[in-house]
Order: sequence, then structure tokens, then C-alpha cells
Amino acid sequence: MTVAEIRSQFPQLNEKVYGKPLVYLDNAATSLRPLSVIRKWDEMSSALSANLHRAVHAIANRATEEFESSRQAAADFIGAGSAEEIVFTSGATQGLNLVAFCLGEMKGFLKEGDEIIIGEAEHHSNILPWQFLAQRKGLTIKVLPVNDRGELRIKELPSLLGPRTRVCCIAQVSNVLGIENPVSEIAAHCHEKGCLLVVDGAQGVVHCKTSVGALGADFYAFSGHKLYAAPGTGVLWGRRDLLEQLPPYMGGGEMINTVKWSGSTFAPVPHKFEAGTQNMAGIPTLKPAFAFAQNSAHLPETERIMAFMPEALSRIGGLRLYGTPTDVSARIPLFSFTIEGAHHEDLALILDKMGIAVRSGQMCAEPLMDRFGVTGMLRASFAPYNTLEEAEYFVESLKRAVKMLKD
Ligand SMILES: Cc1ncc(COP(=O)(O)O)c(C=O)c1O
Repeated sequence: MTVAEIRSQFPQLNEKVYGKPLVYLDNAATSLRPLSVIRKWDEMSSALSANLHRAVHAIANRATEEFESSRQAAADFIGAGSAEEIVFTSGATQGLNLVAFCLGEMKGFLKEGDEIIIGEAEHHSNILPWQFLAQRKGLTIKVLPVNDRGELRIKELPSLLGPRTRVCCIAQVSNVLGIENPVSEIAAHCHEKGCLLVVDGAQGVVHCKTSVGALGADFYAFSGHKLYAAPGTGVLWGRRDLLEQLPPYMGGGEMINTVKWSGSTFAPVPHKFEAGTQNMAGIPTLKPAFAFAQNSAHLPETERIMAFMPEALSRIGGLRLYGTPTDVSARIPLFSFTIEGAHHEDLALILDKMGIAVRSGQMCAEPLMDRFGVTGMLRASFAPYNTLEEAEYFVESLKRAVKMLKD
């Protein structure tokens, strides 16, 4: 597909902001949706609205088939061994909370004084669930730091991994630094010490060819809305033997086997984790979203943007880019930076007036902001529908915005 063909599938790109064509560079926060996704979402709402699994009527059966076939599509997309290892969630946040909560309740898994390792660049969604768990169970959290380039200091991992370390929580790609972490190497260290690895794939699943088997993860969570699918959709993959040992997360309809006053038993995985009415219009949009992601990977235009951006940004006085790995192939098209003397929020507001949507602030990674001694950053994140021309317009507009603030 050419970029022009891709762009024609994204109606939101026709929007104007303050009379200017929208340049959408906030894709790491949420992506735009192609027509294939919008149509599936519409079909599920306008023709197949019925509660899943529970009824015998035709519409419910078709809706259930749309929902359940999305499970196999998700398994195929991330190289999972079986659709039964796919738990649908509302997003990465829910997936990570589910794992943290349920590991805490898994028989014999955690004892007071056990340890958890968390990467220094993690999103709050991969910190807070573990802090809650640590408080509940009396656990200690240790931090795997990043260096000044934003790379995880992987050499320190073996010394952090002790006999009491039970879980290590790492993002495949940080939403601030845009660097793909060496997850399989981390997995090897963890497994050698009997520690589980939970991978936050919210950004990685969008940009990296992902096979959960090759990553060596024990759990892997991501969100649909960052991957062109409907909001409120997500996937948690878990090793089947682990999913089977975990107790349920929430109680409600569909997750049970029998319910008696004397006690209840639960449905087999993955339904044990899917209590209540699911996002029946949203989940089936994962299928066209996966197809779009597969067909739009590694476009020449994205490569051109990747070559252009770091170089162009480095020519702006006082600009500091965060996430500059020695191995440039570990970068995704996401650029976070600060500019001396120009506040990130002011820059974002001026850029908005020029039609450019970017992210500013802590980006849900406050400990990482503290690590770099900043209160926030500006982030431009690209998708396959973005063009080199937009990247050039962004850099020129940024220069103008900086000049306005400094003059
Ligand atoms: C790396 C990372 N993890 C987790 C999340 C949380 O995703 P959601 O809000 O879709 O649950 C995000 C969202 O920005 C993210 O970038």
C-alpha cells in the first residue's frame, strides 16, 4: 500500500484544526481508526447487537462468532499457541492489573518479603498495580534503571534478581523513550532465577513483529485503541499453565461453571477472566486492526521519517532527545524531547494552533521524568499514515514555536 492509499482509509485525516489540515502525531496515546475498523464497529452496533454466549438466537450466535473468532486472530497476531491463552480486556491497564491482582491471590506464589523488579521507564499502568500488590502482600519493589541514553541497564539485572524475586515487569517498548527493550534476554535471566516476566506490549505490539514465544514472556498485555482498533479493547496473553493456576479476577456472568450458596466453580480459561458483558462491538474490530497493522508494517515512508527526525531535531538549539539507543534499529518512530527555555505545554499549545496534535507532560511515566530531572516532555509519535512532509512541517512549526516563546 502507498501512503496515499493508506491515508484514504483514515477519515479523521480530513479533519481541520483551527482551519489547518490535521497533522496527527499523538499516535502513541491513541491511534486513528481505518474504515475497515469503523465498518466492523458499525456492523456490530447496527446489525449484531446481542449479548454474547448466552442466547440461542441467531443474532447472538453471529455476534458470539465475531467475538470468538477475534480470539484466534489475536493468538495468530502475537504468535500465541492457542486462542484459549487470549483473555479479552478493556486495555493494557486492565490486563496488567488482572495479572498483578491474580498473582497475589495464586496459592503459594507470594510470601511477605518477596521481591518484584520494575523497569525505570515503565508507564504508570505497569507500576501502580505492582505497588498495590506490594502493599497488600508486604513485598519489596526494586527498580531496573535506564542509562542516559534510555537503555535498560541490563547488566544490573542478574544482581537484582535474588532468590526472593518472583516477578519482573518490563515494557517491550517505553512510551517515552521509544526503544525496544531486549525482552528475550531479560526473560532468560528471569527464568534462570525462577522469576516470571510480565511484558507491557502497549507500544511494542504496534511497531515490533511480536511472537510471545520468542519474547519468552509469561504474560503479555496490550490495548486495541493504540493499534487502530476500537477503544475499550485489549488483550492479555498468558502462559496457559499459569492462567489455569490463577484465581478469577472479577466475579459475574459467564465466568462461572456453577454457582451455589455453598460455593462456586469457574469456567475454563480464558472465560474465567471475562466476567460480565464484554465489549461486544469493540473486540471484533481487532480483526481488521490486526490486518491493517500487518499490511502497513515497515513502509518506506516510515523509514524516511525515522531517518529524518533525529537529525532534524538535533539541529534545534537547546533540544534534548530522550531515548537515543546505540543500536538505532531498536528505535520506533516516537520522539520525546525537551527544549531549554521553551515549556513543553506552551509548545504543544502553539503546535495545536498550527494543526499539529502532539503529547506533552509526564506521559504517565513520572519516575522516568524524575530520572531525567524534567517535569515533562513533548512527544511526537508517528503511524503508517504519517508522511515525511508532515514530519518536515512539524519540525518547521516547532522551530517557529520555539522562536515565538524565546523572542
Ligand atoms: C507503555 C504503555 N503501557 C500501558 C499503557 C496504558 O494503556 P491503556 O491506557 O490503553 O490501558 C500505555 C498507554 O499510553 C502505554 O503507552
